[in-house]
Amino acid sequence: MNEEVEMKWNRWIRQTHRWLSVAFTVALIVNFVAIVRSGYSRALGLSAVAVLALMFLTGAYLFVLPYVAKSRGGQRTV
Ligand code: HEM
Repeated sequence: MNEEVEMKWNRWIRQTHRWLSVAFTVALIVNFVAIVRSGYSRALGLSAVAVLALMFLTGAYLFVLPYVAKSRGGQRTV
């Protein structure tokens, strides 16, 4: 992949991970409130798990980035 395209892609993944963290926090609060009010449902629980699954995928990508950069011998990520 072209270096510039790769940088853009990396930034997009990081922004996505950041905004997903907001969505996940909201989903958690909604779940807690529903439990307290005895209105919990499986769909509600799954909505949080679905966002967490996306967080894991984007987070795992962010995690390997520095190692990939190192194995290429570059100094592109700090
Ligand atoms: C599900 C598994 C998750 C994995 C594997 C993961 C992994 C990572 C990694 C590797 C980074 C980059 C750290 C760096 O800068 O080198 C990161 C950043 C971050 N993570 Fe996660 N994460 C996960 C879940 C979450 C959750 C649940 C939250 C909060 C609700 C969260 C919030 C953040 C935020 C706010 C950043 C900083 C993003 C930025 O640079 O703007 N992550 N995560």
